[in-house]
Amino acid sequence: MLSQLDAAQLRRQRTTVESFPAAGTRAVRVAGGRELIDFSSNDYLGLARHPGLAAAMGECAARTGAGSGASHLVTGHGSEHALLEEELAAFTGRERALLFSTGYMANLAVMTVLAGRRERVLLDRLCHASLLDGARLSGAAFRRFAHADSSAASELAAADPGHTALIATDGVFSMDGDLAPLPQLARIARAHDAWLVVDDAHGLGVLGATGGGALEVCGVKPEDAPVLVGTLGKAFGSYGAFVAGSATLIELLIQKARTYIYTTALPQPVAAVTRQALKLAQSESWRRERVLALTARFRRAAAAAGVVLSGSTTPIQPIVLGSAATALAAQRSLAEAGFWVVAIRPPTVPQGAARLRITLSAAHAEAEVDELVACLARACADAARGAA
Ligand SMILES: Cc1ncc(COP(=O)(O)O)c(C=O)c1O
Repeated sequence: MLSQLDAAQLRRQRTTVESFPAAGTRAVRVAGGRELIDFSSNDYLGLARHPGLAAAMGECAARTGAGSGASHLVTGHGSEHALLEEELAAFTGRERALLFSTGYMANLAVMTVLAGRRERVLLDRLCHASLLDGARLSGAAFRRFAHADSSAASELAAADPGHTALIATDGVFSMDGDLAPLPQLARIARAHDAWLVVDDAHGLGVLGATGGGALEVCGVKPEDAPVLVGTLGKAFGSYGAFVAGSATLIELLIQKARTYIYTTALPQPVAAVTRQALKLAQSESWRRERVLALTARFRRAAAAAGVVLSGSTTPIQPIVLGSAATALAAQRSLAEAGFWVVAIRPPTVPQGAARLRITLSAAHAEAEVDELVACLARACADAARGAA
């Protein structure tokens, strides 16, 4: 099995971050003894290494200890969790929010609780693996509609009226950076009396005037997207995830979601960090403006340099190169030039659509973006020639 992965250039490697350069919160990591500018993390707002967050973790750990010791329903639920849930509910404009240890677990929870045997769920073809795995685990029949194609979703819903329990989609797609057609999907869900589940792992904190994410940008109100999943390890620079929605939805998840009930609660210091991050994400709107301005700068410069871009205007900028070998060669050549940009290969993306997934962060400097673009066109062209 491993040799097959090697032959197809699909074996994944971990690279260890050895340290961070002493100076400040730049998006630079030391790996293999070299400083590399990180253009692959999801730290969109540049909060992951914010000294205030590290301080909040230490201060809380001194009060509560490092671990929570039990699940939320036993003795693991603490006041930092409770306060964070209230703050997340207020931030998203929902009645309640429920913390999960990871986004993966939050999505398994939502899918398994809201859909069951003899029902159907509809999923965007490119939605995150955890939504798909949740659909499988739910026992419902699931159908996938063409990416971001609301007409296809509508046809599937109409083909079996009365049986669609939910429609699930990413808000911002993790490997493509584009937005789901949320207003249209909301209308279809309403027409079929189905839940609309929006996993906005990559939009919350980043998009919209208040950081309300893809729903805010698309003008979709909470009542039209009743199940919102957010993750806390990306724009919020922390760890964990949440589901936000009505009080009834959250109570149902507390009672029924196995990935909530049968697992140790997130450590309180992590919740304390997220509370700080949420405050910063709201009060320091310059972070959002900066990452979007850097994204626009990247796109202008890359287009001028002849790099083929997708239509994404979010900080996720895919450069689709085709084969795994070509994408890996481009990754190597950028690493030699001092940039950490990871090749994303099947099965994370479809066959023939291996890519560099470049992500922008408020922690990047303008000059770093310009330098990346200067190397990118050459790296892609060299990689394509080498693979031919
Ligand atoms: C769209 C989306 N949903 C969910 C997840 C899972 O979140 P977590 O890393 O918190 O498990 C990710 C990525 O990790 C993601 O990209």
